[in-house]
Amino acid sequence: MVNRDLLRISGTTKALAIFGHPVSHSLSPVIHNAAFSAAGLDYCYLALDVFPEDIAKAVDGVKAMHFAGFTLTAPHKQTVIPLLDELTPEAQAIGAVNTVVEKDGRWIGTNTDATGFRHQLQLAGMYRKGMKALMLGSGGAARAVLYILSQVASEVIIFNRTLSKAEQLMESLAPFQGNCKWSALPLEKATIGPHLEDASLLVNTTSVGMHPDEASCPLPEGLALRSSCGVADLIYSPPKTRLIQMAEAAGAKAASGFDMLLYQGVDAFTFWTGVEPDFEAMKAALQKARS
Ligand code: ATR
Repeated sequence: MVNRDLLRISGTTKALAIFGHPVSHSLSPVIHNAAFSAAGLDYCYLALDVFPEDIAKAVDGVKAMHFAGFTLTAPHKQTVIPLLDELTPEAQAIGAVNTVVEKDGRWIGTNTDATGFRHQLQLAGMYRKGMKALMLGSGGAARAVLYILSQVASEVIIFNRTLSKAEQLMESLAPFQGNCKWSALPLEKATIGPHLEDASLLVNTTSVGMHPDEASCPLPEGLALRSSCGVADLIYSPPKTRLIQMAEAAGAKAASGFDMLLYQGVDAFTFWTGVEPDFEAMKAALQKARS
């Protein structure tokens, strides 16, 4: 069978790749190649298995071969930083890079987990200046969320099972707090309940509700959501967590982790090409690859 997408690769095609170890599970080639085809842009994107100790050699390689840029997944998101010429404010704040572009001979790293989250909130009408936002969880994914929320919210309250980790998160992001008020509380019904009354946004950054634990919900039992409080969940498997279902049932705006996963790809595409990709083409390719 002829793969028609391969027929468009020529001597002028610009190369991009994701580096990871392991990397064979990555769906980034599927979504990016679909977007390049849909846009008629002359790029191709591969998944390359780069061992942790070889990241510097791999980066030297793409520089020598004039790649347009590259993507990083575990375990390279931090170790790549000293190999780059410049970081965006997002990448600096989060201390991790997932997307790199070459511009005028300089290799610039950004973090589209953060910008993709902001993009998705904006599209869902949940990026509201001066809002009060609640976050559940204080792990790795919470860094990007706290950084982005601090740019738009007047107040962020972080709820975590282990309170000391929420306090550590605030300490390490303190230089990026701006004018936003931060506090941390234990993740319990009694502490969250009163704040759900007047919050505009609730973001789940915990792993509670993730496949195969789909029946679980990070919000303690007995709490109800209001239609005025939008909900964003970073979990993308399942695409509709119990928390997202609760938000929809309450008539609230809801943004699933599945769309956020796509938006980090949308922002990477734009970072490389300067144009917005066809979101529906990316989404259809991702859905087909997962089915
Ligand atoms: P990631 O990098 O995906 O954010 P992580 O760093 O392991 O993952 O963080 C997982 C988050 O989910 C943490 O905030 C964790 O709470 P603790 O700091 O108390 O460990 C939270 N989490 C995981 N399982 C949980 C559970 N059963 N109940 C409440 N919170 C949970």
